Amino acid sequence: MKHGTRPVAFLTRRHTDAVESAFVEQFDVSLNVGDVPRTAQELQQALHHCDVLVPTVSDQLDDVIFQHAPYRATLIASVGVGTNHIDLNAAERAGIAVTNTPDVLTDDTADIAIALMLMATRRLGEGERLVRSGGWHGLAPTHHLGHAVRGRTLGIVGYGRIGRAVAHRARAFGMRILWIGRPGSHTPPDREMAASLDELLASSDIVSLHAPATPDTQQLMNAARLAQMRAGAILVNTARGSLVDETALAALLASGHLFAAGLDVHQHEPVISPALLTLENVVLLPHLGSATVETRTAMGLRALENALQWLAGTRPRDRIV
Ligand code: DGY
Repeated sequence: MKHGTRPVAFLTRRHTDAVESAFVEQFDVSLNVGDVPRTAQELQQALHHCDVLVPTVSDQLDDVIFQHAPYRATLIASVGVGTNHIDLNAAERAGIAVTNTPDVLTDDTADIAIALMLMATRRLGEGERLVRSGGWHGLAPTHHLGHAVRGRTLGIVGYGRIGRAVAHRARAFGMRILWIGRPGSHTPPDREMAASLDELLASSDIVSLHAPATPDTQQLMNAARLAQMRAGAILVNTARGSLVDETALAALLASGHLFAAGLDVHQHEPVISPALLTLENVVLLPHLGSATVETRTAMGLRALENALQWLAGTRPRDRIV
């Protein structure tokens, strides 16, 4: 960055007015007025022309993007907590630091997990579709029955910030909690901690995923593990689609082994597995975990804070590499 000139930030997508205005105050900003997803080539070009790239979790920053170093950009201030869309090693080799935006989306994401849990157990998506289709002919005692969550066991896979926030909410619904931490996490055991994933799957009526996408969690819920879930159980995923074998999940939902599933994230976003689309007993959301005005604003402002700390020569609070 030349002395005396304003730094340049490249925002790959539109953000809330509060976020865009705050960036405009501090940077020469390239805004994506049409909000069209950027191509790999555009992202690579942006690294040549800006000081700070501000992507979202749907911008894929693979190693190929980083192959033409050196770049002008020295920081990727990603808006989102997950960093699986960025090849962190390749960014580091290209001399680019990376930050994310943890904490600020914990509550909203936990709320969506609970919403999916209730939608799936009470068949709310099906009910909504029934009403809109004109097929509802009034209350009948045996129609459209779901299950109660009170007294059920919720198995939480990944007991970080979001997993704990889900547990907190679920206790208020009268649920029993079981959890396991992610491999390598140092959470001290307590009475609710499951001995193993096998134990958690065998004992839970609802399994909710909150582990990040890493090589260790790739297809964590593969066909064998999904089949290990209790008959009539429910799977909720607000973490990442790569954790679940969607083909196997669709088969177990279709056979009735699993009662239902609630998915906010998908293996090949924005493409939804065709096998899942045909099923009534799966709730499909378009990655809405952090989608509130308040949280998306907090996320964007946190990315800005990281960028300003970086440009001021201090370590950004959310630096990953
Ligand atoms: C994240 O930040 O990783 C979320 O998935 C976006 O809501």
